[in-house]
Amino acid sequence: MRQVRTLGLLGTGVIGGGWAARALHFGIDVVAADAKPEMEEWLRGAVANAEGALSRLTFAPLPPKGRLTFTTDLHAMARQVDFIQENIPEQLELKQRVLADVSRHAPAEVVIASSTSGLMPSDLQRDMVAPERLLVAHPFNPVYLLPLVELVGGRQTSAAALEAARSFFSYIGMHPLHVRREVPGHLTDRLQEALWREILHLVNDGVATTGELDDSIVYGPGLRWAGMGTNLIYHLAGGETGMRHMLRQFGPCLKWPWTKLEAPELTEALIDKMVAGTQAQAAGRSIRELERLRDDYLVAIQQVLREYNLGAGATLRALEERLYEAAAAEARPRIAAAGAAGAAGDGGGPLRLLETYVRPEWIDYNGHMTDSRYLQVFGDATDALFRYAGIDEAYRRSGRALYTAESHLLHKAEAHSQERIHVVSRIVEVDEKRVRLQQGMHRTRDDALLATVEQVYLHVDTVSGRVAPMDAAVRTRLAAIQTATR
Ligand SMILES: NC(=O)c1ccc[n+]([C@@H]2O[C@H](COP(=O)([O-])OP(=O)(O)OC[C@H]3O[C@@H](n4cnc5c(N)ncnc54)[C@H](O)[C@@H]3O)[C@@H](O)[C@H]2O)c1
Repeated sequence: MRQVRTLGLLGTGVIGGGWAARALHFGIDVVAADAKPEMEEWLRGAVANAEGALSRLTFAPLPPKGRLTFTTDLHAMARQVDFIQENIPEQLELKQRVLADVSRHAPAEVVIASSTSGLMPSDLQRDMVAPERLLVAHPFNPVYLLPLVELVGGRQTSAAALEAARSFFSYIGMHPLHVRREVPGHLTDRLQEALWREILHLVNDGVATTGELDDSIVYGPGLRWAGMGTNLIYHLAGGETGMRHMLRQFGPCLKWPWTKLEAPELTEALIDKMVAGTQAQAAGRSIRELERLRDDYLVAIQQVLREYNLGAGATLRALEERLYEAAAAEARPRIAAAGAAGAAGDGGGPLRLLETYVRPEWIDYNGHMTDSRYLQVFGDATDALFRYAGIDEAYRRSGRALYTAESHLLHKAEAHSQERIHVVSRIVEVDEKRVRLQQGMHRTRDDALLATVEQVYLHVDTVSGRVAPMDAAVRTRLAAIQTATR
């Protein structure tokens, strides 16, 4: 299976557009194919719209954005991509026909995944060439913000295809959930449908409105669900003896039962009630407005959950760790070469540590990069340098870290939205408890100097909160870089 640099999309509606936005944001090129040429404009609009919230999800250093191309030639798309995600309408025969067709043009090592909400992978792979590379990868709307993707293999799916998919989706910041047995509706839609069925009954029976039913979730269980699922929450509801007590106490009512298993008849009257109810809830706000509101709170919730390393927040943390590590890995050969030269007593001048671009949301009301972002970008460069010296997550977990004690920032020229920038750094002083750095931020296009910073970091024992000597190996590496960047 291939390392994914280019993602092919088959169908570019709501879900295809979400996949495009997510992949492009994390540096993957996208070749999007749709039967309708007019979908290109729609797709580009959807990607631009998604970028608003997506770009606020994390400030960790990102690779350059991927390139988006659009075609109506599905075969041409299949020939030039490393991974294909299918997102055409939910009709078994249509999907079977298109997947079989595309599989004749995509090399056998290209994984083909379907976004299907409930069809079975064994049925989808039936007529394909190399059916072992087909699996279901079921995402959730908006795909660019929700990390969950259910992975389901069919009878012929290979373990290698599942593993390649798991690795690719993790790379673009998702949480792949392996559904070990194919069942209609996978896992999540089965659960969602159970709730949805009860909603339809309660509205149909005139018990509650759509708004009241949404309130019954939003003000209560919905808040819990973002961090803990129903099972763990019920374990807590059972008191000291947890789930066992919970089942003893509330288990019998499962036999009454409260809920209705069959869906109600979708009569015109029921449809009207559902539509009128949700229109009242929207209160005149357009779908676009509501989407923006939803996207904003989805970003905020994930950032809160990150602090607790819980659910989607844990996924965000893992993604950021990978992004920082990727930025550090990019700089590592240059730091290592400089470090070796420094150990041999040679000085080669400042080191180029970080390549990035000015994100649109870093711009202030004057149209320039806002003050705090300078420190953030310099901080990302420092992170790469310190990681090389051995100050990484494991070092911090051992109770030691470098804390910023001083920063002197000078602004020399303005940085504008989307401009590519890079940071060069030198260590001017190291002793057993202190590192002094000088860094310069440059516009990559013409190397113009945008800002400089001089910073002092103190090595701290994070348990006692006191300044303490650093690890000898870390100090040796930093000293070699000091010599190298003279
Ligand atoms: N909408 C959701 O919330 C959601 C969530 C998860 C999964 N899904 C699944 O994703 C898939 C797509 O759903 P959607 O909501 O994006 O649908 P959609 O109708 O918005 O988009 C489907 C796209 O496929 C294109 N298309 C149709 N036939 C084609 C063909 N033969 N070749 C190429 N393109 C073709 C259409 O032009 C359209 O742009 C479905 O399988 C659905 O079950 C949807």
